Formats: sequence, structure tokens, C-alpha cells
Amino acid sequence: MTEEIIILDFGAQYTQVIARRVRECNVYATILRYDTPAATIAARKPNGLILSGGPCSVYAKDAPMPDRALFDLGIPMLGICFGIQLLAQHLGGKVEPGQKREYGKGTLTITDKACPLFRGLPESLQVWNSHGDRLTKLPKGFKPVAVTENSAYAAIENKARRFYGLQFHPEVVHTPRGSEIISNFVHGICGCGKNWTMRNYVDQAVEEIRAQVGPDKVLLGLSGGVDSSVAAALLHKAVGDQLTCIFVNNGLLRAKEAEAVQEVFGRHFKMKLQYEDASQLFLMRLKGVTDPERKRKIIGRTFIEVFQAATKRVGKAKFLAQGTLYPDVIESVPIAGNPAAMIKSHHNVGGLPKKMKFALVEPLKCLFKDEVRQLGLELGLPREIVFRQPFPGPGLAVRVLGEVTAGRCAILRNADAIVVEEMKANGWYYKVWQSFAVLLPVRSVGVMGDERTYDYTIALRIVESQDGMTADWVKLPYELLEKIASRITNEVKGVNRVCLDISSKPPATIEWE
Ligand code: XMP
Repeated sequence: MTEEIIILDFGAQYTQVIARRVRECNVYATILRYDTPAATIAARKPNGLILSGGPCSVYAKDAPMPDRALFDLGIPMLGICFGIQLLAQHLGGKVEPGQKREYGKGTLTITDKACPLFRGLPESLQVWNSHGDRLTKLPKGFKPVAVTENSAYAAIENKARRFYGLQFHPEVVHTPRGSEIISNFVHGICGCGKNWTMRNYVDQAVEEIRAQVGPDKVLLGLSGGVDSSVAAALLHKAVGDQLTCIFVNNGLLRAKEAEAVQEVFGRHFKMKLQYEDASQLFLMRLKGVTDPERKRKIIGRTFIEVFQAATKRVGKAKFLAQGTLYPDVIESVPIAGNPAAMIKSHHNVGGLPKKMKFALVEPLKCLFKDEVRQLGLELGLPREIVFRQPFPGPGLAVRVLGEVTAGRCAILRNADAIVVEEMKANGWYYKVWQSFAVLLPVRSVGVMGDERTYDYTIALRIVESQDGMTADWVKLPYELLEKIASRITNEVKGVNRVCLDISSKPPATIEWE
């Protein structure tokens, strides 16, 4: 039986981070809404519960409240920030508005060294706070086990009931030893082993896929990106030739991309791969189109059309596989101030055909992105695929500004290949979020040998980011920039000028269209 920690989400910005930290301890973690009935939770027999933070005050009229019966299930519990206040208030303590908001770094002094939450940690720790309310009276049976400058109840314990509370955030990187506190909770207090590994998960997932799919056929739209590639490898392991991957070449791919996909999935993994070369069709439809949104719409529609036609050629299939990840399925808590409630993945590759009558197989839907990468390695996918930089569904069309033509795509492809090659050769490619070339539709005068040129400009877009929502430009060494620029102007016919994009997101976006 899988051990599990359940995290109840009260609308915190960091709920997913808590889940990731727990999983980094090799313990499976699930996020559920704050109002999940206690009976539903009890039925899952979790090893422990974590109450997340949240933007509300526990005494606010509309504060999210859990099922009270939760506190009588006998399950170990850890309340974080809003969670500690909730725990205290429900059990008879008191929470009041603080004199001033405690925000940022603080120093935690552990006053009870025997507390299992702090096993192996020094007496003094850097922690990160973000709260306005304070605990002013402890409930019966609790005692303080650590203090900060501003709080006599920075960490509390009810040993008999195995209830713990932390006023600070152990899950964020600004609490450098926070992971050890979480590890102490899940291993030491909840008694979990270290069973959640991608090696173990492969067997479990294979079994589940086989049970779901039975003898039927599965189709998968393979883009060559991390998620669809890992989903393909996993499904192939589970159902072999019952899986057919459909790869659409839209003519907007980077250099050697179509070949690489055929090499890895077709020849190496020996998957059934339906290769659809629709590049002419896409380029024809994009002829004369310059508006970015129109380009995206045309590409999205054409993709669906080509994909649909391809599925008909493959023959009758009951299932369609998708590389949906856990963050896409976590139901966000609709509380004002919860950024997770507003941030939804705004791009979905190609927008797969909703009206097609397939049952869905989503073998990655309980995994975070870093777990998907580990799983990919476990399944034997090459590192170039597993750690590949994101690439937009509409491909080079959003990087060829203005009209997209075969000629312009070819120029961009050559320039982009140089960027990738140099970034890899100099050890930068895997350190940044994205590094690519953009073809600007402006031509300027240059000189080559004794000849005047009138050619295109390439912009270099090289950014760092955690999740693509915000980004900053990377300060690459001048020597590397110089090498890239000089190779592009020397080797790519049609380009005589290279610029560096030094805008952050916001206000710019990562892609230029
Ligand atoms: P922007 O340009 O909005 O991009 O700052 C944020 C991240 O999303 C990627 N992106 C896309 N991904 N389909 C995708 O699958 C798309 O239409 C799309 N547009 C942008 C972009 O590369 C960056 O990583």
C-alpha cells in the first residue's frame, strides 16, 4: 500500500511547494481542498496531514474552514502559517492580529531540543516568515518548542496527539533547512518510509495503464517535448504496440527536430510512429498572415485537422493519451489573494481535439515536472529530451516576426542551431530556461568583404525563469555572445546583424509573438 501525506490547501501560494518538498523526501503527497470531508480523508488512510498556509485570517468571517472531525482522526498533523493558527484556534487557543506583519527572514531558536521536528538541526536556524496574525494563547496540551524574535510560539507541539505547528514556512528556499523539518515530520513523526521513487513508480504506473487500457489501442500526439515524450515511453513500456504515436511536422520545427524524434522513438524505442509531414499545408495557410494571434489560431486549427485525419488512418482506437501534469489537475482554491487561483497554464500544445470521442489516458497526472524528468531518465530517454528547453506549440511561427515563409524559417533554423550549439558547448544550455533566436522582419545595411549587404536581423532571446510566468535575461559572458553573433553573421546567409534582447517578463513576454 502506498504511504501518503495529504496536504489540505487553504489557498496558499506555496501549497504545491509543500507537496514537492514532501515528495523530495520520497513520500507521496496529494493536495486536497481545505473542505474535503474528514470521512473522505480517513478513507485514504493517510500517514499524515499538513494544513497549508493561506491568505485569510482564521477569525475572518469568510475564512476557509476544514471539517472539524479532521482533528479527531488520530492522524499526525502539521499546521504551517495559517495552518498553525487554524490548529490552535480549533483546539481552544487564541489568534489575534499582530502589531506588525512579520515578513521575511527571521531567526528561530529551538527551545526544546527533544522535539522530533527538529531532530538533527542546530539550536538556531534561519527561517522565512510571512504572516500578520499571531498566536497569543496555546490550546490545552500544547507547548512551545521554538521561538523567533517576534513570536513566543513560532513552533508548537502536542506530543500525545502528534500535532505540530510552525508559524514560519519550512517549504521555501529562504528557510534553508526547512526540508529537514519536513523530512522529520514525514519520516520521524508520521513514520513514512522512502517508497516514492520514480523507479518504484514505473511498475505501479505500468500496472495502472494496463488495467485501464486492456486490449484496446492508444493514440498519442508526440511533440518531442518532455511531457509527451515521457508519456510515450511509459505507455510503450505498458502496452507496447497497442500504442501509436502521431508526430506532426508543421514545417515550424527547429533544425533536425523531426529526424531526432524519428530516431529516438521510431528506431531506438521501436514505437509505432505515424509521421505526418504537413509542412506545406501549414505554410500555405500562413501565407500573407502577419498578425500573431491569427497565426496561432491558424496553426491550432490546422493541427487539429491534421491530427484528426492521422487518427483515422491509424484505425479505430479507444484511448487518447495526454501528458497532463499534476499542477494542471490540482483544483485551485478560489480565495482572493491566492495567485494559484488565477495562474492557469495559459498555453496548451496545439489544443488537442476536444470533440474527438476518445477516453483519456493521462499517465503523468500525479507528477510534478521534475518527477516527469526523473521518470524519463528511468525509462531510458536521452538527456537531450528529458532536460530539453520548452518550445512553443506554434513553433518557429512565433519567432519569425511578420509573415512566415519557408525561406525565413530556414534562416531562423540555421541561426537558432548555432545558438543551441554554442550554449551547449559552453555549458550554458541546461542552466537557462530558454535560449533561442528570433528573426526580425527588418533589413538593414551591412558590408561583407567589399560588398554591401541588405539583410535580416536576428535577436537573441536567452532567459532564466522558474515557471515561464516571469523571466529575466541572462547575463552571458561577452565572449560567448560575441562567438554566437559572429558565427551567425558569418555562417547564416541572409543575416548581417545580431541584437540581444535585454527585456524582462513582465513587461515583455519570453516569445516575441
Ligand atoms: P511567453 O511568451 O508567454 O511564454 O512569455 C511563456 C512560456 O510559454 C511558452 N509558450 C508556449 N508554449 N504553446 C506552448 O506550448 C504556446 O502557444 C506557447 N507560447 C509560449 C514559451 O516558450 C515560454 O516558455
